[in-house]
This record gives sequence, C-alpha cells and structure tokens, in this order.
Amino acid sequence: MRLLVTGCAGFIGSNFVRYYLRQHPDDSIIGLDKLTYAGNRANLAHTDNDPRFRFVQADIADRDAVGPLTEEVDAVVNFAAESHVDRSLLDPDAFIRTNVVGLHVLLEAARQAGVQRFLQVSTDEVYGHVPAGLADECAPLAPRNPYSASKAGGDLLVQSYWHSHGLPVVLTRGANTIGPYQYPEKVTPLFVTNALDDQPLPIYGQGTAVRDYLYVEDHCAAIALALHAGAAGEVYNVGANEEVNTVELATRILDLLGKPQTLMQHVGDRPGHDYRYSMDSSRLHTLGWQRRYDLDATIEATVRWYQENESWWRPIKSGAFLEYYRRNYGPKLAGTTP
Ligand code: NAD
Ligand code: TYD
Repeated sequence: MRLLVTGCAGFIGSNFVRYYLRQHPDDSIIGLDKLTYAGNRANLAHTDNDPRFRFVQADIADRDAVGPLTEEVDAVVNFAAESHVDRSLLDPDAFIRTNVVGLHVLLEAARQAGVQRFLQVSTDEVYGHVPAGLADECAPLAPRNPYSASKAGGDLLVQSYWHSHGLPVVLTRGANTIGPYQYPEKVTPLFVTNALDDQPLPIYGQGTAVRDYLYVEDHCAAIALALHAGAAGEVYNVGANEEVNTVELATRILDLLGKPQTLMQHVGDRPGHDYRYSMDSSRLHTLGWQRRYDLDATIEATVRWYQENESWWRPIKSGAFLEYYRRNYGPKLAGTTP
C-alpha cells in the first residue's frame, strides 16, 4: 500500500510513520506537513535514509500541492490539524482554516483521485464533556471549544463524503495521547519539562478534570488497524479506559521525577473546560485491538523519554513558545487566589 500521511511531522503523525514503516516493510509513505509551530522535521529523523519515505512541505489547504499527491497513493491518513484547546481559545482562525477548510480540500482531492481509503484521525473531544458513563460512537457530538468544534465539523464533512460520494472513509476518535515527541504545550510534556526545571505545574481550576491517557504507540496501532480492517463509513473510538484527573497525573509525574508536590500551582480555570472525557471502545476491540500499555506504563515511558531527550524539547521551550506561555498563563495566574 502507498499512503499519504498528512501532519506527519507532528506528535502522533511522526510516531505513526515510525510504527507503520516498521510493521509494513513493503509499504511506502509520502509524508506531507506544513511545518507549523507544532511540526518538527527532527521528529522524522528515523526516515532520513529510508527509500520508502518521501517528505513534502505543504498545506493540506493547497489544492495544487495536494491534488497530484493523492493521485500517487492508495490511501490518505490525515493527522494534519491545529490541535491545542488553549490556542483555539486565543486564536481560533487557523483551527477553522486547517481542521475544516483544509480537510475539505484534502477530501475533494481524495475523491477526485479515487483513493481506496481516507482515514480521518479525530478525537474524543468531539463528544464534549461526558459527566457519567461512556460515549460510544453514536453519542451526540457536543463540542464546547473552538478546537473540538472544528474537529466535529471535520468529522461531519468526512462522513458526508461517504454518504454523498461513496468515498471509503474511516474515522478514529482517540483519547488523550501521550508519549515521545509531543509538543510541550499539552499537559503531560508541559508538566514533565516544567518539573525537570523545578518550575511550577499550572493546574487549571481544582485539577479535578478527568482524562483517559493513551500511549501513542497503542493509538498508532489502532489507526493502522482501522485503516486496514475498519468498515467504510464507520467510526472507531480509541480509549484506554483508565481515567485520571490532573492532580493525580501531576502527582505521579512528580513522584517519578523525585520532585516535591509543592510544584503544583492552581491557576484560573480554562474557559469551557470539559471536565471528563470517557469512551466506549468495544467496536475497535471487535477488530482485535487491545492497548499494550496500562496507565502506569504509559506515564512512566513518557516521563522517562522527556528525561532522556532534553535536547529535543529544550530548544522548543524558548522564543515563540515562551510568548505563548506568557499569553496563555499570565491571565490565569492573575486570576489565582493565593
Ligand atoms: P500536533 O499539533 O502535534 O501535530 C499536527 C501536525 O499537523 C503538525 O506537524 C503541523 O505542522 C501539521 N499541520 C498543521 N496544519 C497543517 C496544514 N494546514 N497542512 C499540513 N500540515 C499541517 O498534533 P497531534 O497531537 O499529533 O495530533 C494529530 C491529530 O490527532 C490531530 O488531528 C488531532 O486532532 C488528533 N488527536 C490528537 C490527540 C492528542 O491527544 N494529541 C488525541 C486524539 C486525536
Ligand atoms: P490538554 O493536554 O490540553 O488536553 P485536552 O485537549 O484534553 O484538554 O489538557 C489535559 C487536561 O489537563 C485538561 O483537563 C486541562 C488540564 N491542564 C491543566 O490543568 N494545566 C495545563 O497547563 C494544561 C495545558 C492542561
């Protein structure tokens, strides 16, 4: 199979390229990425001498770039997105441009090229806050921030291409994913790298918001399985089903690093904070997927990677990152009651 993997230089995309080339020695990948602040060519260093991989720097919203590439492949796997909730609250434009308009350009190119598969990588965040129980694939979409709203809009567009045009789409909705190469704006790499520098861990509100953390390799295996064995037009939830709140996550990270719990600092809450995500992934289990990493192994492998790969994250936590950090956390810190 020949794949076009978009967003291949980001966190999950780069892990997917690594995982897929290892598991499918006869397949090849064209990797496309715009290289936004979150895209990093260094994440793909493992492909440098691999003739099965070719990198193209382009925007998924660029018809002229995307059209000919879809003609060359059997399947498209779309990771390209603006992906951070806090940034979507500060600057939503890019979220609509990439997650909705760019996705539409990619879908149209895939339809015209007649690709055999279009896998859209989506998120549990489209179900919004789930106060109790588990959201299955039929649960209503109820996004509550511009990021998740743009992803939900994208999901509906993808499904419309199945119903209207018969484009053989598959959607995966993954839980909060952690592991190597995650940009340190997301909670886990932010907390680990702050802790390594003895800096405060900013906990939004009471720190009781629950997430279901999934190891990136397990997520990549699920996407590869859905790509090959998923039914056209179908959605597959990908959850680990082991929930933890922010304070518990921070506690485990600080314990693993031998740092004091006093590094936790409660700050103002995220507007529209979803206090719980939780999914029923039994449909994916029927395809044969099981996670390999439990929560302890997921957090430990992640913490150790950042501990051992300071040369990867330290250059990122400078310049534009620090500007974003001040912009996002300044007002939250100002809202903190001592
Ligand atoms: P990321 O922000 O690390 O990577 C996104 C990548 O997309 C970057 O390399 C960026 O340069 C690229 N990109 C952005 N806009 C682009 C454009 N217009 N054209 C081409 N490339 C563009 O994100 P991630 O965490 O790896 O997430 C990948 C996908 O998985 C996203 O669609 C996200 O919604 C979804 N997802 C993420 C998680 C998670 O916990 N990280 C969970 C479930 C689903
Ligand atoms: P995040 O990694 O941004 O993922 P999500 O898109 O699921 O919100 O945040 C995960 C949880 O951690 C979420 O409940 C918000 C919380 N959080 C903090 O408490 N402090 C932080 O600095 C960040 C980034 C997140």
